[in-house]
Amino acid sequence: MRILAINGSPKGKQSNTWRLTSSFIEGITAQEEDAHGQAPTVDTLSVGALDIKPCRGCFSCWSKTPGKCCIHDDMQEVIEKILWADVVIWSFPLYYFGLPGPLKNLIDRQLPMSLPFMSAEAENGGHPSRYDMSGKRTVVISTCGFYTAKGNYSCVSDLFDRLCGKDGYTAIFCGQGELFRVNELAERTDEYLSWVRKAGEEFASSAISEETRGKLGQNLFPRDVFEAMADASWGVGKSGEKEDPSLVFTRQMAALYRRQAWPGRDVVLDMNYTDIGKTYRIVLGERGSHVEEEPAAGFAADCTTKINTPLSVWRSIASGEIAGDEALMRHMYSVEGDFDLMIHWDEFFGAANAGAAGSAGSTGANAGADSAGNTAAAARGENEVEPKTNMMLLLAPWIVFWIAASIDGFWGSLVSV
Ligand SMILES: Cc1cc2nc3c(=O)[nH]c(=O)nc-3n(C[C@H](O)[C@H](O)[C@H](O)COP(=O)(O)O)c2cc1C
Repeated sequence: MRILAINGSPKGKQSNTWRLTSSFIEGITAQEEDAHGQAPTVDTLSVGALDIKPCRGCFSCWSKTPGKCCIHDDMQEVIEKILWADVVIWSFPLYYFGLPGPLKNLIDRQLPMSLPFMSAEAENGGHPSRYDMSGKRTVVISTCGFYTAKGNYSCVSDLFDRLCGKDGYTAIFCGQGELFRVNELAERTDEYLSWVRKAGEEFASSAISEETRGKLGQNLFPRDVFEAMADASWGVGKSGEKEDPSLVFTRQMAALYRRQAWPGRDVVLDMNYTDIGKTYRIVLGERGSHVEEEPAAGFAADCTTKINTPLSVWRSIASGEIAGDEALMRHMYSVEGDFDLMIHWDEFFGAANAGAAGSAGSTGANAGADSAGNTAAAARGENEVEPKTNMMLLLAPWIVFWIAASIDGFWGSLVSV
């Protein structure tokens, strides 16, 4: 099997959509190796790296030099590759409800691939292909920035319906695309990518199953959680001024709060970033969360729980570089006050936040163990979620220590030992 993947994102390999496309190709490769003992030949083209000028509309490719464009740039090579491929994958971000301009240019420049005559077959008019395209398959993969792909892809669908026929291509459209670059959310995005990989496997053997379609159709995160995270991610305040990165990070963490975890009273979490000398207060309430900056005179009321941590450490925990429980045992951060929040961290900030898939998206204390486990699983192409570390069990000696040490430092330490 010969695959041509056309990357229409100006970000090249850094593209969110390309992550999905790579997973899809991984899936095809695994299936092909399994079924035929041979990996497919994959060629990729990055539109941004090609010299493709806009069509001049002169129709010389239809009359003067049939099948040949009068513009001499990289497009001739693109057409040759499209003709070479058994499967063409179009990978691109949604721009203004359509395709990015350079990719639309490339599509326009396929005119030499058509014959000039009017096709009697196309319902609303069209042109027959100059080449035999039977047996070739088309895949369209795209991410967009809104919380859902639903209702945002009508222009794109119309275009490919006309190019390939309504049922003549396979499409994966995914909302919340910017989350694929956020390491802290890898647990959920990797899970989604594992379904894209599965889709690739199924496509290679026949077609994407209903079950996989269902998983791909789910939002990565519920709308309110996603939109709070997205708004926080720009690093600018309500009036557009630049904000401190530590505040931005704390807001993103607060955005992951699950209201369902509200225990009947507000939980007040102080994040004391010891390396930068800043404390932010996250209030976890019945209707959602909000972040407060510490006033010069300090917070008026007490918090429920305080985490003393270098910002760098908390960031590493959140991105899965360090496991939260391990970092705690290695004294990389400390906790004061009610420890209940730490034990129920995943309920407050994690698991059920993800789309109906029920997978996790967590940031903070438990994120380390979970992310690491799932990334590895995704790499192995397994969909099962690794069993969670039992935080309670791991932390039991430390809880004893905190309680005992607060009564008596020396005897407390001895008891926990
Ligand atoms: C110029 C521009 C226009 C965009 N238009 C839309 C849009 O109409 N709808 C949408 O949901 N996202 C829109 N987005 C967001 C992108 O589709 C989204 O960030 C996508 O994940 C980027 O994918 P990439 O990293 O593969 O380029 C737009 C982004 C840019 C830069």
